[in-house]
Amino acid sequence: MRKISVKTPFGAGGIYIGQEALEARLPALTKGQENFVVTDENVYTLYGNFFKRYFAETHAIVLPAGEAHKNFQTLYQILECMSQVGLHRTARLFAVGGGVVGDIAGLAASLYMRGIDYVQIPTTLLAQVDSSVGGKTAVDLNGVKNVIGAFHQPMEVLVDPTFLKTLSAREIKCGLGEIVKYGTLDEEIFDLLDTRQAEFDSLDFLEELLVACIRKKVAVVELDERESGERKCLNIGHTTGHAIELWSGLSHGESVLYGMYLETKLSMDAGICDIAYGEKLLKIVENALRVQPQNEVDLTEVDEYVSLAMLDKKNLGDGKIQMAVAKEKGKWTMLSLDFDEYKLVLQTVAQEMPILQR
Ligand code: GLY
Repeated sequence: MRKISVKTPFGAGGIYIGQEALEARLPALTKGQENFVVTDENVYTLYGNFFKRYFAETHAIVLPAGEAHKNFQTLYQILECMSQVGLHRTARLFAVGGGVVGDIAGLAASLYMRGIDYVQIPTTLLAQVDSSVGGKTAVDLNGVKNVIGAFHQPMEVLVDPTFLKTLSAREIKCGLGEIVKYGTLDEEIFDLLDTRQAEFDSLDFLEELLVACIRKKVAVVELDERESGERKCLNIGHTTGHAIELWSGLSHGESVLYGMYLETKLSMDAGICDIAYGEKLLKIVENALRVQPQNEVDLTEVDEYVSLAMLDKKNLGDGKIQMAVAKEKGKWTMLSLDFDEYKLVLQTVAQEMPILQR
C-alpha cells in the first residue's frame, strides 16, 4: 500500500492506495466513532459484503445513481437524514461511490454543523484518479455544473483498485478522460499513455497510472488549493466538455475526452499547441474513446451545445470563453477566445472528429 500526504493551508489528508487500503484504515477510522455513510444504489447492490463488514451498525443513506441527482434536493435529503439520526459535529462521514456521491457527500460534510470530517472511498476510475482527491465538493444548479460548492479536504482517501474490477468498459473510458488530462500536465504520464495505448483497458496499467495521476493532482492542489492559478490546469478539456455533457447527457469523463479533442484542435489552430505533440495527444484521446467506441452524439451539431460553454465557471462575463489548453509536452496555458471565434473554429474542428467504429 502507498501513502501520499496532502498538505494545504485549509486542510490536510492522507491518500492510501492499494488493495489493503480499506482493511488497513477502516477499522481504525470507524472505531468508537459516530459514523455516517453516503452511497448510491449501484454501489450498495454490488458491494453488500463491504458494507456488512465495515459499516454493519452505521447509519447510511443510499442515493439514486447518476448525475441527474447531484442537486439541492439530494443534498437536502442527506443533511436531513444526518440531522434526524442526531449526528454530532465529531461524527465522520464516509462517501462510498463515484464522482457524484463524492462531490455531494463532501458538500454535505462541509455544511453539516459548519463542517465535519469525511473520508472518500472512491469506487470508479474517474473518482479514484481525480474527483476524490483535492477537496472540491459541489452540486449542479439550473443546468450549470458544480456551481454550488465548497472546498473541504477529506481527512483520508482510501483508493482500492479492486473496485475497478466491476467497472464496465464505458466506466473505464470515463476514467481515461481524467487520466489523459493528467497526461497533458506531466511528461512521464504522457509517455506512459503514448507508448502503451494498447493497454488502456488493462487493470494493471490503470493501477500504475492511478498512482502517477494522484501524485500529480496532489502536487497541483498543494500549490493552489482554491484554484486561483495553477489548479486551472485541471480543467483541460472541461470547458467544451461541460457544454457537451450538459447538452448530450454523455457522462462527465467521455464528454471531457471529446472536449479535450476539440480544445486541442482549437489550441493547435490558435498556434499555441505544438503540432507534432498535438497530433500525438489527439491519437491518445482517440484510443481512449476506442475503449468503448460509440459515437452517441453528433458533435458537428455545434449550434446545439456551443452556447452552454458560456456558463462555464472560468469565464469572466466579458463575452470570451476561457479554456485551459495543452501547449507542449508537460505544459499548458489559458486560451481566451471571443465567443464568435470559438464557435467558428469549433464548427471546423468538430467536422474532423473521428467516427469511431469497433
Ligand atoms: N477536478 C478538477 C479539480 O479538482 O480541480
